[in-house]
Amino acid sequence: MNTFETIIGRRSYRGAYSPDRIARSDLIRIMQAGLAAPSGCNKQTTSMIAIDDPETLAAVKAVIDPPIAESAPACICVLAQKTIAYRDRTFFIQDYAAAIENMLLEIEDLGFRSCWYEGHITDEDRICDKIAQILKVPEDYELVCILPVGRGLEEPKSLIKKTFNERAWFNAFGNTIETERSCGAVVYARTWQGLRFALIRSASGNWGLPKGHMEEGESEQETALREVKEETGLTVTLNARFRTIEEHPLGRSGRLKEVAYFLGQTALKTAKPKDTREIRSVEWVSYRKALRLLAFPGDRRVLRDARQFIIRHNGD
Ligand SMILES: Cc1cc2nc3c(=O)[nH]c(=O)nc-3n(C[C@H](O)[C@H](O)[C@H](O)COP(=O)(O)O)c2cc1C
Repeated sequence: MNTFETIIGRRSYRGAYSPDRIARSDLIRIMQAGLAAPSGCNKQTTSMIAIDDPETLAAVKAVIDPPIAESAPACICVLAQKTIAYRDRTFFIQDYAAAIENMLLEIEDLGFRSCWYEGHITDEDRICDKIAQILKVPEDYELVCILPVGRGLEEPKSLIKKTFNERAWFNAFGNTIETERSCGAVVYARTWQGLRFALIRSASGNWGLPKGHMEEGESEQETALREVKEETGLTVTLNARFRTIEEHPLGRSGRLKEVAYFLGQTALKTAKPKDTREIRSVEWVSYRKALRLLAFPGDRRVLRDARQFIIRHNGD
């Protein structure tokens, strides 16, 4: 996986974990990623303890009330030292935040799941102190966070993030980048073999989800329905309770492409594009195959979220 894909694919995971033990080599790598993070004035104030011994893990989990990551086969506890960086400045929070993010990304990259559990353990009941005691952490270190590590048995919950234009600008506050807006749908059918998704292959050869530009006076849903029809020949029932935004830079134009995706359900009918110069072909594929075929990480994220929505709302 490349860095961007790992970053985009990462999600906090709060579901059940597989009991498979985590190789020490993987835990070492994850901690190396944490140790490699930048730190203010290179004070390297962050340390960490991996727990893979079942007895120690059970003792730690026993003091976490209400419980979290009960089935995780390992976890990493993050320790901070409130060292002065210069004058009266401390950077230990920034240091451990950078270390945690590095570890979360390495965890994701290795195919595991995790969640940044800090609020839960540093509240008034000071679960962190109870864990620190079990792990024999000296008093000048503070246990600030616990990261479970394991293979997730479920998909992480999808989440609405604010759009690029709401939080990121060029050259001045609020100066949004020129944005091209499109709409489309994750088109699916239920079959006796499970869910099938309609992917399109563009003229450039890339596999993607059906979508296209908004026309004057059109609503997002009208655009999605029209584009799905044009690109796949399919008439779908649109579900706008699922709406997610996918964004990416538009080639080297300096503009941003913002695509609103809905869910489009139909029967497993023959799908054929209206104009085969624009869209080479349409294919019905399984979820796994769709994840393999889709060319862009943003589209894979949309598909994952859409499938999770379908399963959560009306079964597989
Ligand atoms: C400082 C900090 C503390 C957090 N503490 C908790 C926590 O105690 N429990 C929890 O379930 N998630 C916790 N999270 C995870 C956030 O809820 C999560 O990152 C956020 O909802 C965004 O979701 P995402 O990670 O899937 O993008 C924490 C995240 C941060 C950065």
